[in-house]
Amino acid sequence: MARSRSAQWYAGSDRNAYIHRAWMRRGLPSGAFDGRPHIAIANTASDLTPCNLHLNEVAEHVKHGVWEAGGVPLNLPVVSLGETNVRPTAMLWRNMAAMAIEEMLRANPIDGVVLLGGCDKTIPALLMAASSVNLPAVVVPGGPMLTGHFRGVPLGCGTDVWKLSEEVRAGTLSGEAFLRSESSMIRSKGHCNTMGTASTMGLLAEVLGMTLPGLAGTPAPDSRLLEGAHETGRLVVEMIAGGRRPSDVMTRGSFLNAIVALAALGGSTNAVVHLLAIAGRLGVELTQDDFDRTGSGVPLLADLQPAGRHLMDDLHRAGGLHAVLHQVRDLLDPAALTVTGRPLVDHLEETAIHDPEVIRTRDEPLRRDAGIAVLYGNLAPDGAVIKPAAASPHLLRHRGPAVVFDSVEDLHARLDDPDLEVTADSVLILRGCGPKGYPGMPEVSNLPLPPKLLAQGVRDMVRICDGRMSGTAYGTVVLHVAPEAAAGGPLGLVRTGDRVVLDVPARRLDLDVPAGELAAREPSPEMTAAFARPSRGWQRLYVETVRQADTGADLDFLIGSSGDQVARESH
Ligand code: FES
Repeated sequence: MARSRSAQWYAGSDRNAYIHRAWMRRGLPSGAFDGRPHIAIANTASDLTPCNLHLNEVAEHVKHGVWEAGGVPLNLPVVSLGETNVRPTAMLWRNMAAMAIEEMLRANPIDGVVLLGGCDKTIPALLMAASSVNLPAVVVPGGPMLTGHFRGVPLGCGTDVWKLSEEVRAGTLSGEAFLRSESSMIRSKGHCNTMGTASTMGLLAEVLGMTLPGLAGTPAPDSRLLEGAHETGRLVVEMIAGGRRPSDVMTRGSFLNAIVALAALGGSTNAVVHLLAIAGRLGVELTQDDFDRTGSGVPLLADLQPAGRHLMDDLHRAGGLHAVLHQVRDLLDPAALTVTGRPLVDHLEETAIHDPEVIRTRDEPLRRDAGIAVLYGNLAPDGAVIKPAAASPHLLRHRGPAVVFDSVEDLHARLDDPDLEVTADSVLILRGCGPKGYPGMPEVSNLPLPPKLLAQGVRDMVRICDGRMSGTAYGTVVLHVAPEAAAGGPLGLVRTGDRVVLDVPARRLDLDVPAGELAAREPSPEMTAAFARPSRGWQRLYVETVRQADTGADLDFLIGSSGDQVARESH
């Protein structure tokens, strides 16, 4: 057997090799240090990340496969991020998780890694880390939960929380009924069951080539997930023998395939920042404009919440990711490989649509063009994004007066005020929510509508923000505005009453204010005062070094690869 990376620790008869082996024995078989591959299972299971609770069980099945193929599996608990729990926002910690995982993969005697993720930021962080280290790696997506029901109606977690809470605010649902729905929302283990960020990134991990083909989208309680975990354990050992690394799998063609899939699935806008960040780690040339160029003509085929009706176990039953990809196969790069060593398109042959209500054919799409639009203008010199499929068609071209909120606190203090001067034509602007401003770019861009307009039956308005939007949210929301207000972007210069012009077909976002007048303005003192300026720790490092949304909001010094070699011994 060829000398493995782990043999740099374990091989030989000197004192150091003795120490490495002796402390690791603890029940491992005698041949464990004879050069066979050691596989880390980077495991984001945590009691505080409820969507990933079941990953310890998944890890056990990965271990069976690794042993069976002649490797040594090693559980490696890594930083985990529970989207619904961590403050101020899980996105603040994505780069920290990625950095910590990267360093632990580099620091330890391993030859390959299986990445276990699920909840929103966990798969992006794992892929960013694995891309920088570039050891053979495979993802096992934890899978979505089964669909819960309330009063006989399926519940889309996330999406229906927003809808139900808006109904309470509009006075059409009682608070008591709202609270009763809580116990029905989360039916089983697994991540959110809408086409939110977790579903999107699990499926895109497969489109990038980084999972066992056919595994992504398997519901968390489905026994086939465990079978796939077992197979993945075998596969990663084979990949080491074949020298197949993330940089061989995730090429520019793979990322463009992911953009096609993102559009056909109606996936989360958060995929833009995550894919840009992963590509940045690999040195793959990818820009925000690629999402518009490649995704715009792609039809929307999956009828899934939040843009549509169904949920993730419906998608799986209807034929899953492969049935969707098969419909757009001609748009996929045929050369893009998977972890199997075979191209992605080779794995799409045996697919069929089992329920055309959930997955449409190319001839009868839900929309003809479903991609993410990238807008530019004097309000977003470096771009902003909008998901037209989740927007109201009549608002895609709109001109209206701005109603500006300087922070989320300002929004909460004034939005419900009956005297707030706002109409259905107003454009709600929330700033101070970008990577630096919040800090961490939270999912607040789909700001709620003023109650007095809800009571009038208004259900959507143009909203503009430098933050992100939950993948489970919907509405005519322009987000990821770059540069953000806290980085000196013109969003910080808007005043209530200014006319905002949105023209999605023309890809424009402008403020109808003369350039000279705009240049002479200063950011409002209220907005400047609202910016957090962390004095210590990760948050300080983050605010000082985070890049803007248009390049993936990674830290400037984490772009690129560190590789797997660490020259110095530990003692
Ligand atoms: Fe974990 Fe939605 S909260 S995936």
